[in-house]
Amino acid sequence: MILNFGSINIDNVYQVDRFPLDGETISSKSYDKILGGKGINQSVAIHRAGGDVKHVGYIGDDTWILDQILKIGIKTDFISKCYGPTGHAIIFVDAAGENEIVIHAGANDQFSKSQCFKILESFGSKDSWVVLQNEINLSIEIAKKAKELGFRICYSAAPFDASHAKEMLPYVDLLVMNETELKELQNSIEKNVFDLDVDMILVTLGSRGAELHMKNNTYKQSSFIAEPVDTTGAGDTFLGSFMACYDNGYEIKKALEYAAASSSIQITRIGAAKAIPTFDEVEEFLSEQKK
Ligand code: RIB
Repeated sequence: MILNFGSINIDNVYQVDRFPLDGETISSKSYDKILGGKGINQSVAIHRAGGDVKHVGYIGDDTWILDQILKIGIKTDFISKCYGPTGHAIIFVDAAGENEIVIHAGANDQFSKSQCFKILESFGSKDSWVVLQNEINLSIEIAKKAKELGFRICYSAAPFDASHAKEMLPYVDLLVMNETELKELQNSIEKNVFDLDVDMILVTLGSRGAELHMKNNTYKQSSFIAEPVDTTGAGDTFLGSFMACYDNGYEIKKALEYAAASSSIQITRIGAAKAIPTFDEVEEFLSEQKK
């Protein structure tokens, strides 16, 4: 079981030919207002890959977001409404599918310690994971408590904050970063990241795939050829898909292959959560690749 304490955003997505220059105003080609946020994107990826995920999150007065999450098939029992705006993001996606994102935390900053601890205590920690990112308050407190209770912790260090990442390290079993985050973490600690006492370090490498560093082995996974339309949420898709497969007992190589296929499909569609493929879509894609 995977318990994800994660952000929920309203993504305002604007497709543009190119990003605006300083002081410039440009027109967008399209506008979408959709479900996003690193946390819930990861939960959607876990769910669509067949994983057992419970999402803990906070939103403002946006019932349509709850409806979208329910429609995907994720239960909303642990998603609470609070005062103030739902977390949201302004996302520009250019012609190459690259993005620029500004987020406002809103309700993602309103996690309540007593509520989160109660939820943690209500689940058996045996063989269970807690997933955390940097888009919510209290992630360090939740990690500490979850570790005490015996959960394994998966932490993606995004959006990157060096001091926050350093504080999280003692509790983390699976650390997830992209190359930029890896370099930033490397610069802020005094030893090689791969010498840290962390069981698994997953580095996503964009169009080059990913590497999983474990104590006695490093697994390399290439990405599949894909024409990117929107790369928003590709890392979340990789992580969620990998977690679901790993938690379901897949061999590491198979879990990485599934995650690479899932994120290669996801970037060919507009949007973050809504672009994440289902298990059947990924399996069909993989069997096509093997023909
Ligand atoms: O990782 C992609 C996500 O980052 C977007 O969905 C946006 O909400 C921001 O949190």
